[in-house]
Amino acid sequence: MDREQAGAVLGTQACKEIDNWVAKFPEGKQRAASIAALRIVQHENHGHLNVELMDAVAVYLGMEPIAVYEVASFYSMLETEPVGRHSISVCTNISCLLCGGEDILTHVERKLGISVGESTADGRIFLKREEECLAACSEAPMMMVDHVYYTQLTPERVDEILDALE
Ligand code: FES
Repeated sequence: MDREQAGAVLGTQACKEIDNWVAKFPEGKQRAASIAALRIVQHENHGHLNVELMDAVAVYLGMEPIAVYEVASFYSMLETEPVGRHSISVCTNISCLLCGGEDILTHVERKLGISVGESTADGRIFLKREEECLAACSEAPMMMVDHVYYTQLTPERVDEILDALE
């Protein structure tokens, strides 16, 4: 795959956004844009990456594919498998635990019929992980939905939040 072919795989809009990120870094340091590039491509691909897309990013940025795989597998906001449209992480660290965080997680799992690490069959929700404190301890228990914090949770409030996700 050459750079032109990589651009065709990534798409015009993604390439434009990646180019904007590359321009923020010194000449020859385009690999510094790899995290942003992968986030852009992931967004364009319904929330996850695959080998073809990661390889295209590698060619586009002049990197070895393995270096891109390393980035994609290291950062928790990057997904290398298909997942649900909405990402949920429930905090179960000490402050949340003491305020019912595990009960909240159990409630979410029962309501959705999935366990941590799984997505609902309709592709709506990905119950991504148990968080190890998201620095909202004073408003425990909490969870993060698509990078938005929801705090002082109760099962009723969780139901409202989950039911509102399309
Ligand atoms: S322990 Fe849950 S936000 Fe800190």
